[in-house]
Amino acid sequence: MAAPLAAPLTKLAYQTFQQGKSYFGLAHKTLSSQLLTLLDPPRDRPANRLTPELLLKIQQRLNQLLETDWRDAEQGVYPESLLFDNPWEDFFRYYPALWLDMPQIWGRANQKRYQEFSTQIKTEGYPSYYLQNFHHQTDGYLSDMSANLYDLQVEILFNGTADAMRRRILAPLKRGLEGLEQTPPHQIRVLDVACGTGRTLRLVRGMLPEASLFGIDLSPAYLRKANQLLSQNPGDLPQLLQANAEELPYLDNYFHAVTCVFLFHELPPAVRQRVIEQAFRVTQPGGVFVIADSIQISDSPELTPIMEGFSETFHEPYYRHYTTDDMVARLEQAGFVGITSEVHFMSKYWVARKPA
Ligand SMILES: C[S@@+](CC[C@H](N)C(=O)[O-])C[C@H]1O[C@@H](n2cnc3c(N)ncnc32)[C@H](O)[C@@H]1O
Repeated sequence: MAAPLAAPLTKLAYQTFQQGKSYFGLAHKTLSSQLLTLLDPPRDRPANRLTPELLLKIQQRLNQLLETDWRDAEQGVYPESLLFDNPWEDFFRYYPALWLDMPQIWGRANQKRYQEFSTQIKTEGYPSYYLQNFHHQTDGYLSDMSANLYDLQVEILFNGTADAMRRRILAPLKRGLEGLEQTPPHQIRVLDVACGTGRTLRLVRGMLPEASLFGIDLSPAYLRKANQLLSQNPGDLPQLLQANAEELPYLDNYFHAVTCVFLFHELPPAVRQRVIEQAFRVTQPGGVFVIADSIQISDSPELTPIMEGFSETFHEPYYRHYTTDDMVARLEQAGFVGITSEVHFMSKYWVARKPA
């Protein structure tokens, strides 16, 4: 009798878990914005663009995302345990630090200081578009503290759905690897471009426990954090390299699949094209490239006010252009074919094949 009950119970546990994260994110944002208004009354801060109708739409999209996430796990695309994967230790350790960092964030945001780095941070050698306090983050992507806070900040921003959105690359990735049954699992090579703190690689590892995983990122601090996170997993460590996605340090046709999550909206248009061309170069003929990034205006026009506000509120200098960028044309220009796209909650996905 226990088995028929197991799925509904697990689903209930998952929904409760997600609801907890969602309430937590909302409570945090409400409290911090009230505190900000009290300590530093708004001057030319953008007005709140969230009407009740928009809030309802967002809630519906969030519910749909969770439903899809649950369904993919139930259908065995990835283990159900992945639904509950959460960096609890980091949460308890760094949540207080997130509050302590807030006055600095508010100060920089109010005074529109967008390219500020501590003196001990080495900024030489990075492309100029990268030297930004994206999301007003202290030290941009270049300090260990920024790496420690990043996942918490993203979880709060998306009301606890960041991993559910990242997991939407897993089904297309798995489909993209179909036909490789003759290849020993450990010889399947998957690269995550701009792997950041390793959350996506951790999820891919959950679905492909034996595959050879690779990650590159420009930030040494984020790679250190990724190394910590990924070394908790049993099995082989993904190979992490500091590199620019514009010049991937791999042979042509090396990977069966390439993924890239939440990078393109942070790149200037020409760099977007170069990264796609590099992804094409390192993907095997017949291999798949899966992108996850923000929604765009063409597929979610009702959320235009939010997208318009995001660029400024979170200091995302290239986001506005990204929201109308024709990513399909870019992928085709690089040589990809069979391009499909889908939208889940606040994110959009492109799946593209390199011709066999
Ligand atoms: C918004 S974060 C996304 C990180 C991760 N993929 C995730 O899902 O959370 C953007 C990441 O892209 C990296 N990045 C930005 N420009 C890059 C470039 N040109 N080459 C490599 N990494 C880059 C940053 O260091 C950062 O880790």
